[in-house]
Amino acid sequence: MANINNPDDSRYKQLKQILDEILYLKDSPLYEYRKINNNKPVIGEGTHYASIMFVGEAPGENEAKQGRPFCGAAGRILDELLASIGLARNEVYITNLVKDRPPNNRDPLPDEIELYSPYLDRQIEIIQPKCIATLGRHSMKYLMEKYGLGEKLASISVIHGHKFDIKINKTKTAYIPLYHPAVALYTASKKKTLIDDFQVLKNFS
Ligand code: URA
Repeated sequence: MANINNPDDSRYKQLKQILDEILYLKDSPLYEYRKINNNKPVIGEGTHYASIMFVGEAPGENEAKQGRPFCGAAGRILDELLASIGLARNEVYITNLVKDRPPNNRDPLPDEIELYSPYLDRQIEIIQPKCIATLGRHSMKYLMEKYGLGEKLASISVIHGHKFDIKINKTKTAYIPLYHPAVALYTASKKKTLIDDFQVLKNFS
């Protein structure tokens, strides 16, 4: 993807600082695995002035090889979903809760979420999106608890596509939990659900 961001911009510099910190995150339980496999951390991609920010779970194999979020099979579904509401990847920002690939694509562990989530918090503060959409249940749980929606936390099968209001530094921001796009690879009917849920994002593009 062509670089759409300006290296002289302060958001670029702050996000680059996050990349530099994660590159040398030797305390991470996932650091060894990254090095042994010649993997890259995946920080995020898209415009630093995005209205909509997507937060997935953690990089998979393709993502860790390329250092880019959602560039494998789930990413192709995400691209289709974006296209269904007239958006291209470089018009949004896409990141993950955990920035290094967990072995064998297992779910991120609580200590990994604890270590990596402050970087996500910083990305949100830098980009100041109008809407945050999580892709999957771990990022949903993390963000709902962080932004005071713990009591409304429920199964993703119940709250997917709902819009919640959160405050980020006193700014009203929309939060929308969505299914992870990979579900559409295993359950065809979920693709229709995702397409329907994406409609709500149109209000923020
Ligand atoms: N799944 C995720 O949650 N994130 C990615 O970047 C790729 C697959």
